[in-house]
Amino acid sequence: MRNTVVLLCVMFTLLSCQHQPPKEEHKMVYSIASPSASTQLEVFLDEQGQVFYEYSFDNKRIISKSQLGFKLHSLSGLTRDFEVMSVARNEHAETWEQPWGEQRLIANNYQQLTLFLQQKDEQHRRLNIEFRVFDDGLGFRYVFPEQPNLSSFEVSQELTQFNVAKDLQAWWTPAQAGNQYEYLYQNTNVSDVDLVHTPLTLIADDYALSIHEAALHDFSTMNIQQNEGTLNASLVPWSPENEVKAKVKAPFNTPWRTISVAKTETELLTSYITLNLNEPNKLGDVSWIKPGKFVGIWWELHLELGSWKQGDNHGATTANTKKYIDFAAKHGIDGVLVEGWNEGWDGEWFNHGGGAFNFTKAYPDYDLHEVNRYAQEKGVYIVGHHETGSAIDNYDAQLADAYSLLAEKGMKAVKSGYVETGEILTSGQYHHGQYFVQHVDRVTQMAADKKIMLVAHETIKDTGERRTYPNLMSREVARGQEYDAWATDGGNPPNHTTILPFTRMLSGPMDFTPGVFELSLPTRPNNQVNTTLAKQLALYVVLYSPMQMVSDLPENYEKHLDAFQFIKDVAVDWETTQIVDGKIGEFIVTARQQRDSENWFVGTITNEQPRQVSIDFSFLEAGKTYQARIYRDAVDANYKTNPGAYVIEERTIQAGDKLEFALAAGGGLAISLLR
Ligand code: NOJ
Ligand code: CA
Repeated sequence: MRNTVVLLCVMFTLLSCQHQPPKEEHKMVYSIASPSASTQLEVFLDEQGQVFYEYSFDNKRIISKSQLGFKLHSLSGLTRDFEVMSVARNEHAETWEQPWGEQRLIANNYQQLTLFLQQKDEQHRRLNIEFRVFDDGLGFRYVFPEQPNLSSFEVSQELTQFNVAKDLQAWWTPAQAGNQYEYLYQNTNVSDVDLVHTPLTLIADDYALSIHEAALHDFSTMNIQQNEGTLNASLVPWSPENEVKAKVKAPFNTPWRTISVAKTETELLTSYITLNLNEPNKLGDVSWIKPGKFVGIWWELHLELGSWKQGDNHGATTANTKKYIDFAAKHGIDGVLVEGWNEGWDGEWFNHGGGAFNFTKAYPDYDLHEVNRYAQEKGVYIVGHHETGSAIDNYDAQLADAYSLLAEKGMKAVKSGYVETGEILTSGQYHHGQYFVQHVDRVTQMAADKKIMLVAHETIKDTGERRTYPNLMSREVARGQEYDAWATDGGNPPNHTTILPFTRMLSGPMDFTPGVFELSLPTRPNNQVNTTLAKQLALYVVLYSPMQMVSDLPENYEKHLDAFQFIKDVAVDWETTQIVDGKIGEFIVTARQQRDSENWFVGTITNEQPRQVSIDFSFLEAGKTYQARIYRDAVDANYKTNPGAYVIEERTIQAGDKLEFALAAGGGLAISLLR
């Protein structure tokens, strides 16, 4: 049965509750290796009863002595005076099935070590630390058991360290810097990292790692702060007035802190420990959740051809929406996003004016009932839009009504947005702190109750929660293609999308919004999209999202229906993903097999350098012949001077074929391999 999640599950305790505490704790090292012993963890206490860990990959120490623990507000810390009361070791081996995703079957094999710690003073406060050691990484979390002397408390600092080698190359975006996650990536030595987001990608000559977190619920976001070469967990404070990091009520477990590791950065892309460390699906029957593609009243707003606010130029009119519905229906696109349909856009909505947003009242020229009726008649659905302006209290107050309306009108998905200037919500808390994380969980649950799929912009980073709540489809949470329309720095440079797969995308799907065909942007004379048209096609494969936007205007697609065929054909739900080749910041070759199908799709992109790529098609099934349609850059294509020049060729391809392709500067290549 397809949706039977667990195919094989073996979980047994090898040695549990070894009740004899070691005599000399500071000399005692608790070691555990991953199932194939490719990674190894050691945990130990020093003379002061402080707890540390070290982690090795391929017999190389990749994390040296790094501290664990917490400082607490108005209480003595969970930092020292610990002794190990007992230790448990478990082994887990399972393969589970994603209801949708980039990989249908996922192996979840690890060795677990749990340390049951207690402080030696008269309060005897207890803290457990659970470590899961995988062949491709480590996850650990803190568990605060229910206990008399630690019930409700506030975390003032998490002490977790990631003491990596000092000469790693780091790829990062700044955290708490005023524009949430929407930055270009910087590449520096690890010692030049400041306060940065996760996933944080770190590359050595012979290995690559990614530091992130998993299952971020009811806790503050973890950023990374570099200090004298050591990377430290840095929790986002509650608010500028209240520097407390998290409010905790025991029993409670923190999100997992994760370190993915592989020999090369390309292998990091098919590591699934973040998903594995999330709880299985809590929503039961999720057959109503279906990946899809959507067009929308969106790019025309960013191009200033229409406006979000009402008036003569208003984009979200009934007539305009019907035009998009007709286009979607004609080309087999599932949804139509409509932005600017509701009250609240007339003032400075992006500058904390979001308190005016009403999520049930449409502007007078948008007939909510009629557009949904028409969409249904045509076999497509409207993707609702909830821009909040980061006035989340205003959104929370309307959640039940807003999601009831979506459900009632047959809108199967909603795109939400949390635009704001700065990092502080209208209600005073930090955008990435615990208050917002709690809000995201409320929205997810409400959407699930009403059977609505979510695509969220400017929200909290992905930490794999889609495993537990499969209605969490996609997020933006990085600089998306919108920047190409209006960014004063000229938009995303060609290397941006060659960095994203190795950084942001390690956290989960992204609503990048690819698919622009009119790249020179006539209405935006100071901007252009810095890719070729073929690269726009390739992005559908390279940048995974189960809800892919088909972002350009219908009239721009009508001019290139031969190239548009790729967007129509390309899958959004995958049996498997393989990274054929790649180098962060330079290029990538991604191959994915469509789920429930023998079809494969290949996407290749390059940075500003033109490039020859050699693709080895050994991922195809041996002995089968595939009808390939190749969408490539024309010989004179160039993202700056001639972005729209492409060539389409047909041929057959088989496993074992090795073919060379030329990519233009800022170019790409997309191949459909149909059976
Ligand atoms: C920012 C989002 O990223 C973009 O997609 C959206 O159109 C605007 N906010 C308005 O909500
Ligand atoms: Ca955005």
